[in-house]
Amino acid sequence: MAGIEKGLFRAEVAGNEKLSSACRLIRFARPEGFPDAKPGHFVAVRVNSSPVPLLRRPYSIMDLTETELVLLVKVVGPGSRLLGEAEVGDWMDIAGPLGGTVFPSPDGEDAVFVGGGTGLAPMIFAARTWKREKDSANTYLIHGAATSEELLGTFCEEDFTKVFRSTMDGSEGFNGDAVSFLQSLLKDGAISASKLYSCGPAGMVKSLELKVSTRFDSHYTSLEAVMACGVGACRGCTVPSREEEGRKLMAVCSDGTVFDASQIAWEDWE
Ligand SMILES: Cc1cc2nc3c(=O)[nH]c(=O)nc-3n(C[C@H](O)[C@H](O)[C@H](O)COP(=O)(O)OP(=O)(O)OC[C@H]3O[C@@H](n4cnc5c(N)ncnc54)[C@H](O)[C@@H]3O)c2cc1C
Ligand code: FES
Repeated sequence: MAGIEKGLFRAEVAGNEKLSSACRLIRFARPEGFPDAKPGHFVAVRVNSSPVPLLRRPYSIMDLTETELVLLVKVVGPGSRLLGEAEVGDWMDIAGPLGGTVFPSPDGEDAVFVGGGTGLAPMIFAARTWKREKDSANTYLIHGAATSEELLGTFCEEDFTKVFRSTMDGSEGFNGDAVSFLQSLLKDGAISASKLYSCGPAGMVKSLELKVSTRFDSHYTSLEAVMACGVGACRGCTVPSREEEGRKLMAVCSDGTVFDASQIAWEDWE
């Protein structure tokens, strides 16, 4: 897996900050020995010491510093509720860093990041990592959400050269989806870049690839799928690839999560 050790760690909750009615920033003290994860890696969190819920829950790494591991958590069900209710001083089991691929760096070129909902998390990790490594020129974030309540505020404003927001109901920013917004920004010449990175709902990523990606030299995306094992064993998280021969189904958890978006057979993936 991209040359990185993975492991099981006990991590202490160091902070829990409310970002919106559904979203929290959960900060863990970086466990001793936790490897230097790269943008696109994720962790699988055991949110409870009891057997319920049984399965670990996967979360993109939103940031990893010398001292902290940070996750962006939207409460959607029982597992994320328990994680969202974590208190400073609680301990949780974390497996990671997981994922077999990471975002290739922009090599000093301008980059557009499209983050739909909590797909924002790996976009922030990428932008922060490359800023620290001085490996990007201008970085533009398009953050799309259903409503202004679901937009994630201004906490990542300084991570990008410029942040653009859109809402489906027009309650804040551009009135419409993130892909249409990017199309209009490119058309108006408001932004130009050669690298496109994305994470968000499958429909958004598919639309980006089919409608906008020809304006860029490359489009890499971190996909999400419902996961069980998280390490490529159960084959429960596969996506269809365009490969002519050999493997046709790729496991998001171990063959990804980051894919060249042109390699996904979007027409075969619901
Ligand atoms: C690689 C990866 C990275 C992720 N990163 C983040 C992140 O940074 N922040 C974040 O808030 N969430 C992220 N998720 C989604 C997160 O794992 C789920 O929201 C969580 O597991 C839900 O658990 P639950 O018990 O609260 O809800 P459940 O009861 O398990 O599910 C509640 C609802 O959410 C849906 N759901 C569950 N998992 C997913 C999924 N993977 N994709 C789409 N819908 C799902 C279910 O179908 C159901 O409708 C990521 C998922 C993957 C696979
Ligand atoms: S979750 Fe088991 S193979 Fe991906």
